[in-house]
Amino acid sequence: MPTLATTVDGLKLPNPFVIGSGPPGTNLNVITKAFQEGWGAVIAKTVSLDASKVVNVTPRYAKLLAGSGEVIGWENIELISDRPFKLWEDEFKKCKDQFPDRVLIASIMEEYRKDAWVEIVERCQACGVDAFELNFSCPHGLPERKMGAAMGENPEILKEVVAWVMGAAKKPVWAKMTPNVTHIEDPSRAALKSGATGISAINTIRSVMGVNLDTLRPEPNVEGYTTPGGYSSRAVKPIALRMVMEVAQLIRKEFPGRSLSAIGGVETGNDAAEFILLGGDTVQVCTGVMKFGYEHVKPMCEQLLAFMAKHKFDTLADFKGKSLDYFTTHADLVKRQAERKAAQKAAATAKVVKSDGEWSGSEFVKQSDALAR
Ligand SMILES: Cc1cc2nc3c(=O)[nH]c(=O)nc-3n(C[C@H](O)[C@H](O)[C@H](O)COP(=O)(O)O)c2cc1C
Repeated sequence: MPTLATTVDGLKLPNPFVIGSGPPGTNLNVITKAFQEGWGAVIAKTVSLDASKVVNVTPRYAKLLAGSGEVIGWENIELISDRPFKLWEDEFKKCKDQFPDRVLIASIMEEYRKDAWVEIVERCQACGVDAFELNFSCPHGLPERKMGAAMGENPEILKEVVAWVMGAAKKPVWAKMTPNVTHIEDPSRAALKSGATGISAINTIRSVMGVNLDTLRPEPNVEGYTTPGGYSSRAVKPIALRMVMEVAQLIRKEFPGRSLSAIGGVETGNDAAEFILLGGDTVQVCTGVMKFGYEHVKPMCEQLLAFMAKHKFDTLADFKGKSLDYFTTHADLVKRQAERKAAQKAAATAKVVKSDGEWSGSEFVKQSDALAR
C-alpha cells in the first residue's frame, strides 16, 4: 500500500498537499477547516508587523474563463494580510493548541530592515509556528514599499535578508521565489547560500487580465483604473513546472538535501505527481482551494495514491525528481534524433533478403529493389 506521509525538513506531514499562502489561510476559522479536511500543512496568509499600512481594494480578482466557462486563469491585486499582527499572534497560538501535531507555517514579509525581520521571526516563533515561508515574491502593491518581489528580484538584498532571518530562526525557513525574473536560479541560489532550508516556487506572474473593448479600461477595474496583478491557476502550470524544474536542478547540483515546495496551478493529484517528478517535496495549492473548496484535498490524495499504485511507488521519495533526468539541450535532441534515424536505416538495410525463404508477397517489390545495385 503506498503512503503519502512524508517528512520534509523534519516536519511530519500526512500528505504533501499544503495550503499556499493566500485567502485559504487567512484566519483561524479557515485554517481550522483546512486541517479538519486533511490538508498536509497550512501556510497562513502573509503577515507583517504593521497591518495599518495594508489597504485592499475591490474588486481585487479577475478570472479568465475557457470557452466551457471553466476558470483557467486568475489575476489578483490583493495585498498581504490586513489583520493586526497581535490578532495573528493569538490565532497562531490557538491553532497550535488545537492542532499540536499539524504543521502550521507562518508566511512573513517585512521592510528592508534587520530589526523588523528579526522581530517578526521571534514573535511568530514564540507562538509555536512550525516553520517560516519568506514572501519575497508578491508582485503588486508591496514592491512600491520595496517589499515582496522588489526583494526577490534582487539576489544581493535577498542574500542579506535571508541571513538576518537565519540568524534568528530556530525553525525551517523556505524562501518563496517570484517568477518575474529571467533566471529563477539566481535569487534561489542567493537564498540557499545564506542558509535557507528550502525554496518555494512560484508566486504569481505579473499580469494584466484584459482590456474592456466598450469602456477601453483595463481589468480588473478599480474606479476606472488598474495596476498589474499576479496571475495564478491552471494557466500558469506549464511556467511553474519549468521554474520548479530549474530550481530542482540547482538544488541537485549545488545544494543537495535542501527542500523544494512546488506551486502553480495545482488542482489534481496528477498535477501534484508532475511537480514531484520534477523535484518537489511538497505541492502548494492556493487558487485551487478558492475554486473547489477545502474538501478537494481528498480526491487529490486519492488520485496521487492511484498514480503511485500504478507505478508501484511506495513513497513520494520513490519518484521525487525522477523526470529531471529527461531534460537536455536542444542540440542533444537533434543528435539523439539523428542517431535514431540512422539506426532505423541500418535496421531496414538489415532486412535485405539473405535466403530464398525470406521473399514475401507483400514486400516483393521493395525486396527486389533492395537487392538491386
Ligand atoms: C488571491 C490570492 C492571494 C495571494 N496572497 C498571497 C500572499 O499573501 N502571500 C504569498 O506568498 N502568496 C500569495 N498568493 C500566491 C499563492 O500562494 C501562489 O503562490 C500562487 O497563487 C500560485 O499558486 P496557485 O495557482 O495554486 O494559486 C496569493 C494568490 C492569490 C490567488
